[in-house]
Amino acid sequence: MTVRGTLRVPGDKSLSPRALIFGALSAGRSRIRDVLLGADVQSTAGVLRALGADVPPLSDDIMFTGVGVRGLTAPVSALDCGNSGTTTRLIAGVVAGHPITATFTGDASLSRRPMRRVAAPLSAMGATVVFASADGLPMTVSGGTLHATAWRTETASAQVKSAILLAALCGGVDVTVDEPSPSRDHTERMLHALGADIDVASTRVTLRPATALRPLDIRIPADPSSAAFFAALAALTGGEIELADVCLNPTRTGFFRVLERMGAPVRYDDLRDEGGEPVGTVRVGGGALRGVDIGGAEIPTMIDELPLLACVAAMADGETTVRDAGELRGKESDRIAAVVANLRAIGVDAEERPDGFRVGGAPRGRRPQAARVVTHGDHRVAMAFGVLGAATGCAIEVDDPACVAVSYPGFWQDLARMQR
Ligand code: S3P
Repeated sequence: MTVRGTLRVPGDKSLSPRALIFGALSAGRSRIRDVLLGADVQSTAGVLRALGADVPPLSDDIMFTGVGVRGLTAPVSALDCGNSGTTTRLIAGVVAGHPITATFTGDASLSRRPMRRVAAPLSAMGATVVFASADGLPMTVSGGTLHATAWRTETASAQVKSAILLAALCGGVDVTVDEPSPSRDHTERMLHALGADIDVASTRVTLRPATALRPLDIRIPADPSSAAFFAALAALTGGEIELADVCLNPTRTGFFRVLERMGAPVRYDDLRDEGGEPVGTVRVGGGALRGVDIGGAEIPTMIDELPLLACVAAMADGETTVRDAGELRGKESDRIAAVVANLRAIGVDAEERPDGFRVGGAPRGRRPQAARVVTHGDHRVAMAFGVLGAATGCAIEVDDPACVAVSYPGFWQDLARMQR
């Protein structure tokens, strides 16, 4: 099978919630086009409405008026964040900067994810954060009078960094955040585009108080993490796939760089700027893929693509190792355990490491065995193994195909279409 064709995958899952949040916090009427219509972004919209923002039903083209940087109000009931870590952590920061109290809840997967990492800096800034158990959700945040803070995060996390920046923005205080290596910088770029006084120098961000943000007029670029599945399909099968309007922010494009290192031709065209984000067309072809070793600062630039990398590595010639990726254990599932167990179930040599994994690889032509993959409700595990099944023609059955709805509701239809 070879793939050929053009695809515009849905809007970015990191930019979409940020656009809604900044639209709600701005001082005027915003227009947002091509927002991701996935379940995670519906969670962001629902939570913002519960906090008094006038977010309309989501569609390809929405307009609404913000309430200002300190204009949100206390919710009457708990904020249901569904499966969305971005909604929970970013809006925890927003609540911390308002004189209100809100309890965050979510589905079983989200409720297990680490939230103390966001509670610690928000508490240091002057908010009160209370957990119903040791960590995770439910979590209750009471905003208060915040004070200027300098915070150093232990791991590169854009959600934690963004929570701190949003708390400072809404609370009207100076803040500096230092990270061990750069995480995705969409919040900083959007703050800059909307007129905030922000400085970014490598791994340090400094934000000074703003009384108002300009409204947005943005077309959300296609999600590079969703585009990655089709880039992988092309790399594994040959042909050429053209992925249009992809967000090419370098903090997000590590997977494309690694795919190229493995031997797949990758080209970027039609480069332009969209609301402060680099955007372009990505063309990917097939090649004889070799195993790779990745770790360090490369990890945050492809953190959500590591399950997919493991599936591509299963078909590459030679071993692939991933280090410094312990963060994967705190995602929608323990992605190290999930990916390795599923690879083994289809007969691939794979091994868990505390902070990553090793995949043995296979010479071209060797096919995995038919099996049922256990996704643990994790969209990226489902799509990664869906691509591997499609590329190898092997009967890999995904136990919960519907879980892709959080980030890519039309994934299975697009996968079928690109194989024709
Ligand atoms: C995201 C940041 C990353 C990523 C997640 C989306 C964001 O999480 O894995 O899918 O939108 O800021 P961390 O901040 O936990 O690394």
